[in-house]
Amino acid sequence: MTDPLTPVLTDTWDAESSWKLATYEAAGGYAGLRAALGTDPADLVQLVKDSGLRGRGGAGFPAGMKWGFLPPPDGGPRYLVVNADESEPGTCKDIPLMMASPQHLVEGVAITSYAIGCHHAFIYVRGEVLHVYRRLLAAVREAYEAGHLGTNIHGSGFDLEVTVHAGAGAYICGEETALLDSLEGRRGQPRLKPPFPAVAGLYARPTVVNNVESIASVPGIVAHGADWFSSMGTEKSTGHGLFSLSGHVTRPGQFEAPLGITLRELLDLAGGVREGHELKFWTPGGSSTPLFTAEHLDVPLDYESVGAAGSMLGTRALQIFDETTCVVRAVSRWTDFYAHESCGKCTPCREGTYWLKQILHRIEAGAGEAGDIDVLLDLCDNILGRAFCALGDGATSPITSSIEYFRDEYEAHLDGRGCPFDPARSTLFDDTPQAPPALAGAGGH
Ligand SMILES: Cc1cc2nc3c(=O)[nH]c(=O)nc-3n(C[C@H](O)[C@H](O)[C@H](O)COP(=O)(O)O)c2cc1C
Ligand code: SF4
Repeated sequence: MTDPLTPVLTDTWDAESSWKLATYEAAGGYAGLRAALGTDPADLVQLVKDSGLRGRGGAGFPAGMKWGFLPPPDGGPRYLVVNADESEPGTCKDIPLMMASPQHLVEGVAITSYAIGCHHAFIYVRGEVLHVYRRLLAAVREAYEAGHLGTNIHGSGFDLEVTVHAGAGAYICGEETALLDSLEGRRGQPRLKPPFPAVAGLYARPTVVNNVESIASVPGIVAHGADWFSSMGTEKSTGHGLFSLSGHVTRPGQFEAPLGITLRELLDLAGGVREGHELKFWTPGGSSTPLFTAEHLDVPLDYESVGAAGSMLGTRALQIFDETTCVVRAVSRWTDFYAHESCGKCTPCREGTYWLKQILHRIEAGAGEAGDIDVLLDLCDNILGRAFCALGDGATSPITSSIEYFRDEYEAHLDGRGCPFDPARSTLFDDTPQAPPALAGAGGH
């Protein structure tokens, strides 16, 4: 098999001091910014539109189109805000990218700011990852010292300040409008849209919010062209992307590949499911994307194909679970997360995730009641499409999809057969010293 990988953002990750500006520049870094500063900003926006780059933060919205939504300049400030809050269970691409090669992002910030007429950009990073915050601060400082940021950048007359801001650690602050509220110093809760951030974002001024990987992909497009970027991937899902394999896989890690690669191909590169075991289920894009099973191994991992197969590409967080995993237990843990992270602003999500959690806990413990599966589905039906933001929708995905593919396993927990997979045997959950009391002695099932 020819190597399908397309190392662009990951190209220098194994270089000595890969995070240093000197390493980045030695590999051609900042050629994109120099080219951009001699280009009309409108042409840069068109270039990114032509490349087909879609937002890498989950929803896949075309980046150039988003930039084009900003109203014409009115003399007041406009902002770029980079969403570096990465907190979705399973999602782990932006943090390694910012640790290994932060200048991709810093150069992308400079080019994007120039393209949209922004003179003060923000990088909002998840507060718990102090090491990433420090690395970003150092990277931004190096870029200032080299004249890539600051006043009159490379004699172009363009000025740019960059602020790295650490959040306080809340998943909801990754939702772009909650992030803006948090950045303004408020409690992070989603805003009613419209107005969209492009019209009234940070401090009620026109704002572009983009994911780390989206912005980090911009320098390559400027340096090598839109055709170079769109020669990778599929017709509607162009370019390279970071695919993060985790869980029951022989060699977990980041695999940068064209969109449209399949899990089967990625597993080949990662040494397969851990030895002696077989794939049971997986998430194509993090825990808020509906589960897939072994029957989806050959689904091209692009926005259209994954959607047509009933899930979402999301953040390409491929969490692999083998046959030792109890799906009820895995889904129950994710639901704990959503109930904990629900911001409480709207009733369907605040109340619904609480009840989902209670019911899943009792099913898992072997204390469920007949009809609990239907109650779960009914609750999900009352959250999906009725919640104020996508956190509520996402909370339902693992539940409805796991019931679709593994209803038998739920029923086994309910009808006295116990958990068909002894959780104590699972290597996935370190916090499982023993089976729940109701299941003790249920071995053999
Ligand atoms: C609950 C929730 C959490 C989110 N977390 C993130 C995140 O950590 N990083 C991110 O880039 N986008 C996150 N998003 C998506 C953002 O709202 C937004 O779509 C994204 O930052 C836009 O960037 P992009 O167009 O470059 O993908 C989240 C959305 C929701 C609803
Ligand atoms: S869906 Fe959940 S997280 Fe989103 S606004 Fe409602 S309560 Fe908050």
